[in-house]
Amino acid sequence: MTARILNGVAIRDQIYAELQSEIASLAAGGVRSGLAAVLVGDNPASKLYVNSKIAACGKLGLESFLLTPPATITTEELLGAVDELNRRDDVDGILVQMPLPKQVDSKRILDAVDPAKDVDGFHPENVGRLVAGRPSLVACTPAGVMEILRRSGIAIEGANAVVMGRSDIVGKPMAILLVHANATVTICHSKTRELKEVARRADIVVAAMGRAAMVTPDYIRPGATVIDVGQNVITDAAEAERIFAKFPEKIAGFHKKGSVLVGDCHPDVVETAGAFTPVPGGVGPLTIAMLMSNTVRAARMRRGRAAEAAGVER
Ligand code: GUN
Repeated sequence: MTARILNGVAIRDQIYAELQSEIASLAAGGVRSGLAAVLVGDNPASKLYVNSKIAACGKLGLESFLLTPPATITTEELLGAVDELNRRDDVDGILVQMPLPKQVDSKRILDAVDPAKDVDGFHPENVGRLVAGRPSLVACTPAGVMEILRRSGIAIEGANAVVMGRSDIVGKPMAILLVHANATVTICHSKTRELKEVARRADIVVAAMGRAAMVTPDYIRPGATVIDVGQNVITDAAEAERIFAKFPEKIAGFHKKGSVLVGDCHPDVVETAGAFTPVPGGVGPLTIAMLMSNTVRAARMRRGRAAEAAGVER
């Protein structure tokens, strides 16, 4: 059996098409939604992510503002920059790319973002609203996973869902969203006993532990839906050849580039799962799509009344 591939790029494009008409109706009311991204220092992965986010804004016609303070910035200076963005009327969404340099108090920074502009959904007020079932801005990656499941017609109600990983950014909000969708949810982590057996009870597995290819086919009940949130870069040739033994095109790609991307699931899971998100091209595209969706939502929540007064239908 080979799994049905859940195509994140196609789902993202569907969401972009929907957003474009919302953006046009906001624009008709004189509102151009804007996203501010704060990229501290020169972490190459962070640069890549932020550039993709800015590019997505350009594609959809959202305004974007990029701040690039140096890696030596202090907590107080960064708090000042966030405060200024909080006050700006043309900024609807603010994202501070993580991780921050170690001298910066990340929690203080995240807490300083106006919850109404917190398009990452990281502020404790937004986390609390999510838990209480009154979501406004929800963390992008778990929100994207829900879009994949819903738009692919995967049954969630009554399903056994196993979330592997308990991070604030993915695992915890993911579990809450699945509970709200009436799944029976188990959260697993590095201390979970009999992880394999627990995972094998799942109808839906969400792998988000940040461990390359850890979820092998024996973790998966045949036919289960497997959502792979992992993005791990493999630079060791022997490891790449071991993981992708059945995928010669991936090994060829490794030898050309010197690296290859693998999820938290082993690629052979495709033989056991009923449905499966590939890496790349599964969850990744949805994370940015939900950031765009949150930005439009933040603009509507904060400035929608002005648009409504201008006679715009919403
Ligand atoms: N670093 C890793 N993932 C994320 C994310 O979703 N948002 C931000 N701001 N930083 C991140």
